[in-house]
Amino acid sequence: MNRKKYKNPYNLRNLRYIFRTFAPVMGKGKLAKFADMETYSNVFQYPFSTYEEHPFTMQGKWREQYFKNDNPIVLELGCGKGEYAVELARNYPDKNFIGVDIKGARMWTGATQALNEGLTNVAFLRTNIEIIDRFFAADEVQEIWLTFSDPQMKNPRKRLTSTYFMERYRRFLVDGGLIHLKTDSNFLFTYTTYVVEKNGLPVDFRTEDLYHDERSVLNVEPATLAVQTYYEQMWIARGLNIKYMRWHLPHPAPLKEPDVEIELDDYRSYHRNKRSPKRTSC
Ligand SMILES: C[S@@+](CC[C@H](N)C(=O)[O-])C[C@H]1O[C@@H](n2cnc3c(N)ncnc32)[C@H](O)[C@@H]1O
Repeated sequence: MNRKKYKNPYNLRNLRYIFRTFAPVMGKGKLAKFADMETYSNVFQYPFSTYEEHPFTMQGKWREQYFKNDNPIVLELGCGKGEYAVELARNYPDKNFIGVDIKGARMWTGATQALNEGLTNVAFLRTNIEIIDRFFAADEVQEIWLTFSDPQMKNPRKRLTSTYFMERYRRFLVDGGLIHLKTDSNFLFTYTTYVVEKNGLPVDFRTEDLYHDERSVLNVEPATLAVQTYYEQMWIARGLNIKYMRWHLPHPAPLKEPDVEIELDDYRSYHRNKRSPKRTSC
């Protein structure tokens, strides 16, 4: 009888080989990332769920106590993995950047890069953006970046460009401070355009196709074109145009929410069905 020798692919030698080959490129698990973050000097973790027992004490003192300079502070709200904040920090050593997100395992990537490179002008705040005004004092922040924020098509109050959030930003953004929005979402871009128009907020530049509009080179900082976020790269690979708008947020006058109907983005899953190939949940 011709008996073929059975080869077990999971024998010890094979497993050792697989581990040695792939371990250096395998991602760390969530728990290991959380453990790292606890020890990182550039990470501040204050989620809403624990804020009351553990209030933040550096409000109004970021420059004095953390950055140790008088440079302007720029926030990236919903920074995800944080590489954009890190890349901006590399490009603008005379500004201080703070990436904000609730997802710690994502933020770990940028925080680790910044520590490994010894970048002292970037930090990360893990919290819910709904309470962002508890972390900064009046006039402490000069600019805000909103990068590929979830359009929140169902719930206007959750949109990071809604008047609900902009009222919060005004509590710490300097009078007339800048807000930048980069998005793939026609829905969010149209909505934001209505909010800005309704409230007469001065727009510096607006384009529906950042990378193909010839006005972009003259109207945006080189890094806005050169640096792309994780989600941005994904949307570009799918052939979507990136929309960009930059406007000022003056202090006086209460903001009014526009009453408009906007066509939904058809490529985004409304119900976040896990099996949908178009799922884009954040
Ligand atoms: C679509 S992802 C974009 C991430 C990153 N800006 C990029 O372009 O790669 C949106 C991010 O915003 C964060 N986010 C959304 N709403 C938030 C909130 N209310 N508070 C804190 N983070 C929020 C999510 O956790 C997620 O990481």
